[in-house]
Amino acid sequence: MEQAKDTEIIVELKPNPESSWSAEPEMFDWLINRFGVEFVRNRLQDQIKHANKIFDRGRRLLHIENSEWIMVVLYWGLKIIGLYDRGYKNFFDIQTVENEVRIKNLPDAFDGYRILHLSDLHLDIDINLKHAIAKVIEPVEYDLALVTGDYRASTGGSYQLAIDETVAFMQNLPEPVYAILGNHDFIEFVKPLEEYAGLTFLVNESLPIEKDGDVIWLSGVDDPNMYQLDNLKKAYANVPEDAVKILMSHSPETWKEAADLGVDFMMAGHTHGGQICLPGGIPIILHAKCPRTFVNGPWKHKNMQAYTSPGTGGCGVPVRFNCPPEITIHTLRKA
Ligand SMILES: [Fe+2]
Repeated sequence: MEQAKDTEIIVELKPNPESSWSAEPEMFDWLINRFGVEFVRNRLQDQIKHANKIFDRGRRLLHIENSEWIMVVLYWGLKIIGLYDRGYKNFFDIQTVENEVRIKNLPDAFDGYRILHLSDLHLDIDINLKHAIAKVIEPVEYDLALVTGDYRASTGGSYQLAIDETVAFMQNLPEPVYAILGNHDFIEFVKPLEEYAGLTFLVNESLPIEKDGDVIWLSGVDDPNMYQLDNLKKAYANVPEDAVKILMSHSPETWKEAADLGVDFMMAGHTHGGQICLPGGIPIILHAKCPRTFVNGPWKHKNMQAYTSPGTGGCGVPVRFNCPPEITIHTLRKA
């Protein structure tokens, strides 16, 4: 009886009446079963609160992608000065970047283990993007694939196209592909993307990854930037103290807590590396409250190694300057 009452409250909060996914009556029961009523209620309330906000008092003050007129001005500004076509070409010039991660207590079976790291796909921004990414991934060999959040281009409104494009793209990757939610993603994405795209979400959760009898632990937290419902303590509650710990966090903004919890290697995204940068890759907007050196590529804090992907896709206007998109291969090595 209590459960039914909670479900009614959550259905009232339903943020996307235009989306057929959230119209599924069993969606909210499924979410409550998976994440608990308190977390689902908080997430849905925050989704409504943030969907159309341009400013807030969170870790990030400006949500520029929520402002349609800024995007229109940017689009036409680039068109008028003749830079749009070059920026659009850059947007599809996806690089394959290799990164080596040396971990002290890495089990022998994982020496040479290759992780394919995708981030900020935002595939609904352009229906050609999924083909461009698939082409770059095709020749790459890897042991495990993951996505560090952001499946939709906007932060509110219908997400039908984002889900459809992600489902179509994921046909290129063997299951399972591990995933987390970003600040562009609603909690309702989890069910269709797990059922139809072969993703396995870790939302303040962890699981063991096994290879030849050895184990490392992979954890994922909810978006720490806009929703700030990341809960590292919950994610690590059942992870053995001496385990090798690999973390997915949409934004690098969890760096302090992650390092203090003994995370060995953290993968993040969110920043897009700036997406539109000055020569030398200098971002104009950081998009995250963290040191500048944490915004793109490999970095370190205390004993934790980390990598912030500049994004495989991008959002706002589909252009990039001085900041190429990438797929990243992290090769784990025994230190
Ligand atoms: Fe993003």
